[in-house]
Amino acid sequence: MSLRGQVAVVTGAASGMGRALCQELAHEGARLGLLDRNAEGLASLQEQLRKQGTTCHCAPADVRDRQAVRSAIGALVAELGPVDLLVACAGITGATFADDLAVEQTEAILQVNVLGVVYSLEAVLPDMLARRRGHIVALSSLAGCRGMPFAAAYSASKAALTTYLESLRPSLRRRGIAVTTVLPGFVQTPLMENAPVQPPMARMGPEIAARHILRAIQRRSRVYAFPWSTRLLLSVLRWLPPWLYDWCMARGAMRVPHVTY
Ligand SMILES: NC(=O)c1ccc[n+]([C@@H]2O[C@H](COP(=O)([O-])OP(=O)(O)OC[C@H]3O[C@@H](n4cnc5c(N)ncnc54)[C@H](OP(=O)(O)O)[C@@H]3O)[C@@H](O)[C@H]2O)c1
Repeated sequence: MSLRGQVAVVTGAASGMGRALCQELAHEGARLGLLDRNAEGLASLQEQLRKQGTTCHCAPADVRDRQAVRSAIGALVAELGPVDLLVACAGITGATFADDLAVEQTEAILQVNVLGVVYSLEAVLPDMLARRRGHIVALSSLAGCRGMPFAAAYSASKAALTTYLESLRPSLRRRGIAVTTVLPGFVQTPLMENAPVQPPMARMGPEIAARHILRAIQRRSRVYAFPWSTRLLLSVLRWLPPWLYDWCMARGAMRVPHVTY
């Protein structure tokens, strides 16, 4: 599907996969609305994209703030016109341990990763429904398919996001709006660098991840997991009975040196 001239709003645009995806969308000829809480990062991306000839505007906002998200997306619509594509990339992570449930951090993770997407959707959906066209894309995670060790809050947030989108998908599709849930594998971004427990597997760069996400957008896939090793892991994890899942996770988790499982 051609993205030339389409209006794409990307949240979490200042960093990582969101930032790399903006470059891909610009390359495809989309007009971009950039949203993130990192105003400096947004401004540098906007400058870079404008130098390349892309029409783009940025609107700094914290996705936890429902009103701020509405105003920011409203400002982008005023500059660019109605939104054809929303890509919700803004997200945070953090560890959960049995000895430290990190409740404030858990609240923040759920607010950003779940409600942040809901608020972004709320800001674009009425118009998409009226026009009977549009595409909603959100970055969930493999961590949402089963509860990952040391990542209770993050896993729960991504499980909620995946299920939320799955619930909306059939009725939105009937009304002309596609919904794509993206399940990336491990990607080398600031989010991963700050994760207290590092995955043992190799990580791909955000540029390669962005090309995968672009493919998912162009195909209007319902669910898109990448790379192939993630797809494989996903299908295995889904079918493991609870006792076997616990055994596998405990064996892996006990190899993490600085935490008690
Ligand atoms: N990296 C991975 O391996 C991986 C795997 C699976 C899924 N994901 C998901 O992919 C998405 C993008 O992750 P990434 O790895 O590209 O991370 P990233 O480089 O940290 O980018 C996330 C961006 O979202 C922004 N953000 C965070 N909280 C926000 C808020 N409340 N309001 C507005 N913006 C906010 C961040 O700003 P700050 O820099 O100020 O925090 C950052 O610019 C996330 O939803 C993540 O959960 C990542």
